[in-house]
Amino acid sequence: MPDLAIITGASAGIGAMFARKLAARGCDLLLIARREDRLRSLATEMSGAHHIHAEWMIADLADERDLERAAARVESAANLGLMINNAGFGIHGIFFESDVEGQAAMHRLHVMATMRLTHAALKNMAARGSGGLINVASVAGFMPAPGSVSYNATKAWMINFTEGIAMELAARGSGVHVEALCPGFTLSEFHDVVGMDRSGVPKPLWLSADFVVEEALKGLDRNDVVVIPGWRYKLIVAGIKLLPRGLARRLTARQTRAFRRRKSQ
Ligand SMILES: NC(=O)c1ccc[n+]([C@@H]2O[C@H](COP(=O)([O-])OP(=O)(O)OC[C@H]3O[C@@H](n4cnc5c(N)ncnc54)[C@H](OP(=O)(O)O)[C@@H]3O)[C@@H](O)[C@H]2O)c1
Repeated sequence: MPDLAIITGASAGIGAMFARKLAARGCDLLLIARREDRLRSLATEMSGAHHIHAEWMIADLADERDLERAAARVESAANLGLMINNAGFGIHGIFFESDVEGQAAMHRLHVMATMRLTHAALKNMAARGSGGLINVASVAGFMPAPGSVSYNATKAWMINFTEGIAMELAARGSGVHVEALCPGFTLSEFHDVVGMDRSGVPKPLWLSADFVVEEALKGLDRNDVVVIPGWRYKLIVAGIKLLPRGLARRLTARQTRAFRRRKSQ
């Protein structure tokens, strides 16, 4: 029986690309998101093209009941080989001037759903001593930025959380591997959802979802805990880590203003 990959946020962008690449590798799929039409057509296409079994589950993972339903499915899934916590979204705007419900929903999705589904997946996989889990964080998690405070903070939490889990699994001598995937700007529907004009970001900084997912899967094969696709972003993150925090904060604020000026020109 082939391994099962469960992917949240599989109806678009990076999640849909994970589904395509894993189906091509022969994995069965369970695709989770809110838009049923998207999930159904991707599952049908993948099962036809690769002769795998593909199912979907409609769930708003920022909703507690839906999250519990998804967690129960993850925990009891037979032959779970890979869990990918990818569902996410951005919000643009000053934190204290924005609608608090959007901020709270983001914390529920990025933090609570990741925590709950990681717990469910590890209960399932740790008992067998094999499998993999990818939490899709972001390079944004390495530094706060004005205008996306909750996004960067929740992604920082995801990186820290995943590193901690990796340490616990290593201490137990487990064969389960976990990864925090930290992409930079990636072409997907993400920026349409935020309402962001892509022209504000210099072209060389854009990554394709194809490249990001390839790097994620290579990283998992190598047992890398933190994966940053692309040399430019590796360099940026190395710079952020080397600089004194106060200086890194000032430079990030200046860069964010420069992106916005570029966009408005
Ligand atoms: N694109 C980038 O530049 C970038 C960079 C770094 C990290 N990331 C991260 O990569 C991940 C995937 O983003 P993407 O770029 O592929 O964006 P995307 O194309 O907008 O896809 C986001 C996915 O998340 C799902 N989703 C959103 N809210 C959900 C909810 N409440 N419950 C269940 N599913 C939900 C969406 O499905 P439904 O709408 O159908 O529910 C969709 O499938 C996110 O975690 C994002 O933070 C993206």
